Amino acid sequence: MCSVFSNLTFLPLCLVIFSSSIVQGRPQELPHDCNDARSIIFQDSKAFDRGSQQPLVNPLPEAEPQASTAAPYWLDQQDHTGPARGYAPFLGSDFSYPVYRNAKRYGAVGDGRKDDVAALQNAINHDPNSQTHNRYQNEVSTRPALVFVPGGTYMIKRTLDMRLNTILVGDPNDRPVIKASPDFQGEVLIQGQDFATNGAAGTTNFFTAIKNIVIDTTNISKDKKATALGWGIAQACHLTNIKIVMPDFSSGHTGIDINQGSTIAVSDISIEGGFIGINNNNQQVLFKDISFKRCTTALLQSGGWTAVVQGATIESCSKGVEIPSGGSVGSLVILDSTLINSGSMVKFRDSSRDNGDRNQQIILENIDIAGPNPVAIGDDESVKLSNRKHVDTWIWGNVNPGTYQTGKMLTTQPSPSLLSNGRFFTMRQPTYQEYTKDQVVNVKAVRGHDVKGDGKSDDAPSLNAILAQNAADGKVSYFPYGVYIVKSTLFVPPGTRIVGEAWSVISGIGSFFGDKDNPTPVVMVGKPGQTGVAQIQDIRFTVADITPGAIILQVNMAGSKPGDVGFWNTHVTVGGMADSNVNVACGSPNTAACLAAFAMVHLTSSSSAYIENMWGWTADHSLERGGFQNIATGRGLLVEATKGTWLIGTGFEHNTLYAYNLHNAQNVYAGLQQTETAYWQGEGSQQNAPNPWNANPKYGDPNYSWCAKDSSQACRMGLAQNIDGGSDLYLYGSAFWTFFHGETQARYDSPESRCVGKICITNQARVTGNPKNLYWYGINTKSADVMILDGQDNPSRLNHPGGWPPGGVIAAYLTFQNA
Ligand SMILES: *[C@@H]1O[C@H](CO)[C@@H](O)[C@H](O)[C@H]1NC(C)=O
Ligand SMILES: *[C@@H]1O[C@H](CO)[C@@H](O)[C@H](O)[C@H]1NC(C)=O
Repeated sequence: MCSVFSNLTFLPLCLVIFSSSIVQGRPQELPHDCNDARSIIFQDSKAFDRGSQQPLVNPLPEAEPQASTAAPYWLDQQDHTGPARGYAPFLGSDFSYPVYRNAKRYGAVGDGRKDDVAALQNAINHDPNSQTHNRYQNEVSTRPALVFVPGGTYMIKRTLDMRLNTILVGDPNDRPVIKASPDFQGEVLIQGQDFATNGAAGTTNFFTAIKNIVIDTTNISKDKKATALGWGIAQACHLTNIKIVMPDFSSGHTGIDINQGSTIAVSDISIEGGFIGINNNNQQVLFKDISFKRCTTALLQSGGWTAVVQGATIESCSKGVEIPSGGSVGSLVILDSTLINSGSMVKFRDSSRDNGDRNQQIILENIDIAGPNPVAIGDDESVKLSNRKHVDTWIWGNVNPGTYQTGKMLTTQPSPSLLSNGRFFTMRQPTYQEYTKDQVVNVKAVRGHDVKGDGKSDDAPSLNAILAQNAADGKVSYFPYGVYIVKSTLFVPPGTRIVGEAWSVISGIGSFFGDKDNPTPVVMVGKPGQTGVAQIQDIRFTVADITPGAIILQVNMAGSKPGDVGFWNTHVTVGGMADSNVNVACGSPNTAACLAAFAMVHLTSSSSAYIENMWGWTADHSLERGGFQNIATGRGLLVEATKGTWLIGTGFEHNTLYAYNLHNAQNVYAGLQQTETAYWQGEGSQQNAPNPWNANPKYGDPNYSWCAKDSSQACRMGLAQNIDGGSDLYLYGSAFWTFFHGETQARYDSPESRCVGKICITNQARVTGNPKNLYWYGINTKSADVMILDGQDNPSRLNHPGGWPPGGVIAAYLTFQNA
């Protein structure tokens, strides 16, 4: 490792004042509106018909919660011991399991002197019902835990280990500090990976989150090896409002070590000091709004295949982003970022003369620089892009149509409706820390409206009444952990703010969601034409049984400003979990027996939503000993929205027709899209796409008519992305993976089912309908022949080799860029 790190070429000595004039080159946000007759799709759906016979809610006016100097934090003030507390319903009849844990009740002191690690670990581990009294080796979905850490400095002398299905939440009004003591034993302060439960497999380390915490390594000598946070974890994992403090320019400390795993978004972190801010070896990931100060290397991109760095600020660091020569990385996008008084923004190995795979392809866009150094350099220190104050768009890599480019300047003109202060709009997950507890309503504690969250009772009528009332009263709706069954649509009206507890579950079941030709939303956010606030966080949406007519989440609403309609750390799952019968009902190798849901998420034409860190997972395996998961969910994310959509770190996996369908969509930003095909599709499958579903033109479904009747089954596997018409689409970092093919019961994980070293899918993505202003950068595929079936030159991996073998990389896809 030392040979890579020892070459500290630039130590920042000069001070450059960062002024607002640095942010340039982009128009400011403009109000943008358009009406669209395509909301007719919604009007055909059953929810509307039923809704018009019997309105889902009375249209009450929308109010705002009242802010104050709020202390203590409302979350800790909820009823965590009485009947309204979080309840884990899949532990038999046991009611004593505590979801909520205040670390101080487990003996943590937080005085900066006492060793608190055992108390904090007990708060995380505690399970009164297991024989070992801890949450080791338990199922992912049955024993959730939210550990609340009040303000204070918590000294630890050894590693604090996270468990699966756990959220560690600090008080946002007084962020607690987890601090290594001077005699700290070991290397990692907080280990996000649950080795005790999940072994070494970072790629299946799901559902782990940390919020509002400071991690401090400054009492460990600066030349000793130390890591603030080990984060070799997977999807549905989340960081927000984290600060990491390390000794300035230390030679031994790393802020976040992502040594493996498959997470999709790492967001809102400030990192100070250290040798390496973040060491990333994740399959694919988006880093959003991370600041680095006084470190040696801000981001060491040491492995993985796709990375997007969005909204980074790198200040007074010797190096910005460095890809070591031996590091892979198909493509790296650095977007909307600022470099102040630091070394180069990016250092990489020039692979342009490599035979075959060409990796380390670089896309820079909207970069501001204050300082004297070259913007990009090679691993031999040669200048690849010289010093300048601003970079619009710069490409080093495969361009289609065209050839490999070594430093091509382009111009990207984002649609103004997507921008804020000249950058793509981003927003931090709300903490609602400005509200006291009287502004928050626990949905299980509303007199006259019985809500159970018990995984059995139909909570829809009561929840609909409560959400309508809370919107009218301007209250935040707190859903303590539970499995809230809904047998009809749950309507989220304008004026809603929903906070879950360690991924509270809202789950559809029943004949209301049974008709695949007339699908109905399980959760419907607003009606077409409505505007207002609907913010949802820490929730999991799912179906409790096979429900072919379920659109699990449908958004119709727009905000009056970006982020008013938003989703953070909120996921959609089908199967694989103890709370759904799909987990045991889909063992047949013929997936016609398991049309589990029509679609995961539908953003309709009238909607405008901000979505950060959402994983749409149709289970490929059971996390709960459910056996084979041969599940046919029809569709992943359907975007028909036109008014502004932000997808910040999303992934959709194992769906039949597509992971993403941008159907006549307009004004869409997507930073990192991660997909996997359904493992049961392809060679040897009993069903060929669109089967076992029908392509439904009402929902803009691709119908696979481009595959000849006698085409191989590899042609009839779900698309990672279908782009059909639309305009102003800005897509950065596509990680489109194909790992398996063939029916799982017979073949799953057998050697012939693995796509190792071979092509398994004919077309990974598709563009049709002449979209206008399609800006698509950093496209990565694995085991696909044609990367984008576009009816133009159909770029294939053979012409764009690179990335995850046998992989393809297109750094810039220009075909419809200025159409
Ligand atoms: C530990 O950190 C505190 C400040 O937070 C400092 O005063 C103290 O000297 C440090 N001790 C060691 C041994 O580094
Ligand atoms: C498939 O969809 C295309 C439009 O994309 C349409 O022209 C064609 O008729 C459809 N084919 C079938 C068999 O439905």
